[in-house]
Amino acid sequence: NDGGMMHDNGSMGRGNTVDLVASNEPTQPLPIPKRLQPDRVTDEALYYTVRAERGEHRFFNQGVSSETLGYNGSLLGPMIELPTGKTVYIDTINQLDEPTSFHWHGLVIPGEEDGGPHQLIAPGEQKRARLDIDQQPGTLWFHPHPMGATAEQVYLGLAGLLYVTDDMSSSLPNEYGVDDIPLIVQDRLFTDDGQLDYNRQMNIDGTIGDTLIANGAINTTFDVTTKTLRVRLVNGSNARNLDFSLSNGASFTQIATDGGLIDQPVSLETLKLTPSERAEILIDFSDLSLGDELALEADGISFTTFTVRSKIVQNRDWTDAFREAPVANESSEADRRLTLFGVSHMVTIDGKQFDPDRIDINVQQGTTEVWEIYNRDDMMGGMTHPFHIHGVQFRILERDGKPPPDNEHGWKDTVAVAPGERVKIKMTFRESGTFMYHCHILEHEENGMMGQLNVK
Ligand code: C2O
Ligand code: CU
Repeated sequence: NDGGMMHDNGSMGRGNTVDLVASNEPTQPLPIPKRLQPDRVTDEALYYTVRAERGEHRFFNQGVSSETLGYNGSLLGPMIELPTGKTVYIDTINQLDEPTSFHWHGLVIPGEEDGGPHQLIAPGEQKRARLDIDQQPGTLWFHPHPMGATAEQVYLGLAGLLYVTDDMSSSLPNEYGVDDIPLIVQDRLFTDDGQLDYNRQMNIDGTIGDTLIANGAINTTFDVTTKTLRVRLVNGSNARNLDFSLSNGASFTQIATDGGLIDQPVSLETLKLTPSERAEILIDFSDLSLGDELALEADGISFTTFTVRSKIVQNRDWTDAFREAPVANESSEADRRLTLFGVSHMVTIDGKQFDPDRIDINVQQGTTEVWEIYNRDDMMGGMTHPFHIHGVQFRILERDGKPPPDNEHGWKDTVAVAPGERVKIKMTFRESGTFMYHCHILEHEENGMMGQLNVK
């Protein structure tokens, strides 16, 4: 504990100080999560089955396998395609020996299907979720949300990908696993015998690790065969912010935020994602030759190396994919103000800790509101809080009275709020029911930095 001089979670957060280190594990091919095959498809609907289960996974070349959790496998989960306009039924099965839930992070669906802490599934039980997909294409994810166990269940491996798709998104590179790849990036800490160590660094301000994993593997490589590679980045860490860059310092192009495409592509050299934020980026390999390598780094630590293995080919033309995305340049009075605040061993929203029996905010269905989120946590080495609301996609209107950077002009469901900062967001509450809003540092969520919103 450094007493708190720096403001960045992970490196020198309020209570937690573990730096990332480069791993000297031999490289291994980047695992690409399987695309889940529907059990059944009709004209209007798709049917899937997802099981949460225990497993064993080998993170290291040498050494024992680690005890893990996964969806339909030993670690993480499959990629589930959700075509917009369709109804998707997912039979969710809990094969763990503790309660869990299946939360569809970023989906705009009624509260009762959202899989939050009120929708626990007991061990051995199953439940069918009905998801009417009615939103723009984007890279979403799913994870458990049981009070008191979310953080550890995610840490041990429960996280999967949801791709909302439509026909228009196919004009971008979209050959899954070839020129369109997901990268779930997470920091983890291992015991000397290779087990995921949740407890050693566990802290109210988040469990962080020194080793990066991408799609569940350490030191990965991916063979590039096309001029442009679309990478869907998910910061799946419990608490660590990640600053992404390329090892040659070149720029890349961000094309999407959490919930869909940006109004126009934005060229960047670094990109910060706080826990649960997503971004889709395009990396251009046209200047590289056969055999050349380019690494993706987080906080200067390389974790995935792209290698040009064969003569690279031109992707299909994708330049007009951006026409329908939202712009956020408007300013507006706040309808509500929320204050995020943490003091030593308590984290709160508006001075209150989560109470499952208390509704904090009531909203009428169909209304549009502007919320100002203030991170009052600017003393004692404050932390950035990734603020998330269930059941909506929002736009960022302002950061401290100024328009957000270009790469935040898109649909968001999680927004980083730095110490002392005030961020205005705007959303329409289309779906009814009870929804959570919380800090997506999972240990903050679990320790009370969460409230409930009722839409009716
Ligand atoms: Cu990623 Cu309350 O959720
Ligand atoms: Cu927080």
